[in-house]
Amino acid sequence: MRSLLTCLVAVLVAACVRGDRYHPADPGSRAAAATVVNRAETSANYWAQEAQSAINARLAHKESVKKARNVVMFLGDGMSVPTLAAARTLLGQRRGHTGEETKLHFETFPTVGLVKTYCVNAQIADSACTATAYLCGVKTTYGAIGVNAEVPRRGCEESTDASRHVESIADWALADGRDAGIVTTTRITHASPAGVYAKVAERDWEHNKAVEDHGYDTDRCPDIAHQLVHKHPGNKLKVIFGGGRRNFIPTDVQDEEGDFGRRTDNRNLIQEWLQDKEDRKVTNMFIWNREQLMSLDDDLPEYILGLFESSHLQYNMQANATTEPTLTELTEIAIRSLSRNEKGFFLFVEGGRIDHAHHDNFVELALDETLEMDKAVERAAELLSEDDSLIVVTADHAHVMAFNGYSRRGHDILGPSRDLDEKGVPYMTLSYTNGPGFRAHVNGVRPNVTAESDYRSLEWEAHVDVPLEDETHGGDDVAVFARGPHHSMFTGLYEQSQLPHLMAYAACIGPGRHACSAATHALAQPVLLLTLFVLLISLFQQ
Ligand SMILES: *[C@@H]1O[C@H](CO)[C@@H](O)[C@H](O)[C@H]1NC(C)=O
Ligand SMILES: *[C@@H]1O[C@H](CO)[C@@H](O)[C@H](O)[C@H]1NC(C)=O
Ligand SMILES: [Zn+2]
Repeated sequence: MRSLLTCLVAVLVAACVRGDRYHPADPGSRAAAATVVNRAETSANYWAQEAQSAINARLAHKESVKKARNVVMFLGDGMSVPTLAAARTLLGQRRGHTGEETKLHFETFPTVGLVKTYCVNAQIADSACTATAYLCGVKTTYGAIGVNAEVPRRGCEESTDASRHVESIADWALADGRDAGIVTTTRITHASPAGVYAKVAERDWEHNKAVEDHGYDTDRCPDIAHQLVHKHPGNKLKVIFGGGRRNFIPTDVQDEEGDFGRRTDNRNLIQEWLQDKEDRKVTNMFIWNREQLMSLDDDLPEYILGLFESSHLQYNMQANATTEPTLTELTEIAIRSLSRNEKGFFLFVEGGRIDHAHHDNFVELALDETLEMDKAVERAAELLSEDDSLIVVTADHAHVMAFNGYSRRGHDILGPSRDLDEKGVPYMTLSYTNGPGFRAHVNGVRPNVTAESDYRSLEWEAHVDVPLEDETHGGDDVAVFARGPHHSMFTGLYEQSQLPHLMAYAACIGPGRHACSAATHALAQPVLLLTLFVLLISLFQQ
């Protein structure tokens, strides 16, 4: 028996040293050990200390049980869990460290949960049905926004029945006398931000012509831009920052940067938005560039509409920093504006182009957009007290980027794996299951992508397995990070549609149970028990 055990141990040790078929030896080899960058990590004590300080931090943390006056929801479109791991590694490596040990700002939040992203008729979701889930609290039809799943995609007629419309958490905040706003790097009429204000059977109905092209009447089914300007709650939003001017102006009108509009109804919705605010005698302003935004700092009108591009905002790494606002700058001005309401506010902030970069297999851009959103979260966390402001960070759905291979610690996250394929050809640490980056094999051998002339330029496509025009979303769960009042409500694994209900609970707005009334329930319970007790006693006495 003893010799058998010894033998087993010997076999296991040998396997560890040599590596087995599934787990090659290199990262554990002596040669690799010699390259360890963080010497302190070789001591067991380092990890014990690291864990002890984490325990102490958790014990010292006091969760605020106040009502969340302000709620800011950050949405990384397509920000899958592997995207987080890769982005934090890139952040650390940009700072000259190994990278893996780094944390994004929001990864330091005290509560983390996971949500299931499927929709009523879709295993793998899009940004429209998920926006309806995480903003309106209802899972619905793939491609539909702000309506329940009785409405089929493009079901204009079905969507006219108001009983099928669902309210967003922005509606709930407004009904409570708070303010609401939206910031996004996509067109303001794109699926995610539209979840705040639109009720529409088709996410592509961003302007009137898109509705009419599908054979519907915009009087019955108004386009998304029209809803933002003329319907509740869009017309009550105090801050609207994003891209997408083209959906607000006619086809024969050029915007400030020379781009033509998409509307064929001859309406200029930017002018109509300004007129509506004039009619309501509230101060207002339309802006379209960074200079105007930055000069707003201490003189904010009551209502601001900022549309900074004809379509989406540019990727941060490709934008001119002098002329284009960052997500952080937009978020900061939005918070300053909304903070004027003493009752509080709901703000939706989207890092919307993580998704676009993934769809194009542009890994570096996807990770950089994630880091840009993290900076905006950090700024919001500086501006808003943990005591009365809830910040929630999540994603709508995953993507199919894989983080793979067996590279050593600190290996360049954007480079090829240290491993080679069976034919000795390099493969990337970050690649995709599908998308436009397909390369045909030549005589059964993968091409050497690291030898391509544009290798690792910003728009170089990472390699994929299945050729598709656009890389697809993923069906895996996405993470939720929460900080501020009642953050621990966001722990666990649950349906994505619970998110606005949890935020509303913490903020004491909207239908359903509230943190504020829960406090009275807790008080009421002993009273109830006492009453029962007295009743029982009196029964026995009879
Ligand atoms: C950015 O825009 C400014 C103002 O138009 C211009 O002077 C500058 O050359 C631009 N920078 C780059 C890198 O294009
Ligand atoms: C792949 O290309 C790189 C860069 O040109 C080169 O250094 C490497 O030797 C190539 N590997 C193979 C297997 O062709
Ligand atoms: Zn997408």
